[in-house]
Amino acid sequence: MNDTQLNSSFPRITFLEGRGDMPMLEITTRWSTAEICLHGAHVTHFKPHGEPPLLFLSQCSRFEPYAPIRGGIPIIFPWFGKPAGQSSQHGFARIRDWTLKEIQSPADGPVTVRLALPPCEELSNAEIIVEYLVLVDVALNAELIVRNNSMRDFSFENCLHTYFSVGDIHTVSVAGLKGVEYLDQPAGFARRTETDDVIRFAAEVDRAYLNTTHAVDIHDPSLNRTIRVEKAGSNSTVVWNPWMAKAKALSDFGDDEYLRMVCVESGNVAENRLTLAPGQSASLKIKLSSAALR
Ligand code: BG6
Repeated sequence: MNDTQLNSSFPRITFLEGRGDMPMLEITTRWSTAEICLHGAHVTHFKPHGEPPLLFLSQCSRFEPYAPIRGGIPIIFPWFGKPAGQSSQHGFARIRDWTLKEIQSPADGPVTVRLALPPCEELSNAEIIVEYLVLVDVALNAELIVRNNSMRDFSFENCLHTYFSVGDIHTVSVAGLKGVEYLDQPAGFARRTETDDVIRFAAEVDRAYLNTTHAVDIHDPSLNRTIRVEKAGSNSTVVWNPWMAKAKALSDFGDDEYLRMVCVESGNVAENRLTLAPGQSASLKIKLSSAALR
């Protein structure tokens, strides 16, 4: 984007038929651009001006009605992984078409988009209300709100499964999880404690860190930046990179794309699952920002 474009009026919001003819919003603020697909209420792109994109999106992603998008921020709800008895992995929120409820776009300010998951049988029709707010600013903020309007407890897992774009996974380190217990999926969900100051990547990493509310920093020397993942209403952080063999096995992911991404996911999974009593609600928030490495 050049200076002339930056000096024109902001924000700019465009509705498009995106890939796979899926309705999407393109948002440009004074500070950043973002794209949100109504399929899955999926933020597929966020880029502060003058920087490479913060979010990774696979070149091989499907944009199809019953498939999740590979990259960006899939919304994982109401279950994480593939519990016994469930037919799909990571819940159904990421493969449903959400309803656009509201856009707030004050002149020269940030843009807030509010989306809602349409009522469905699995959520007792309109008794469990699920909304998603995306605030496009210098940073990207997102909030998933679940309200239990039923007469019974409602129990669920949630996760904002964020794919970050990195220059070279071999030089990336993830800080903020030292001393935290995690379930190590490649080792059959063995329970371990993180002893390293930072996590580095030289093989598949698929870990659900539990009982942690801390922010996480992704240091990326090849893009000369640190991405900060701040969160609220989240007791779990999942760190995932599929590495070589799993990348090849994923049909919607390029063989070499594991080199340029890492997932740091904020939510409440496994023993951190949430239970809402009638009338209660839960909010899961993330704030994604970046700064040059010092
Ligand atoms: C991560 C899980 O959150 O998501 C991994 O911990 C999983 O086990 C990954 O492979 C991707 O899942 P999916 O369903 O999008 O391929």
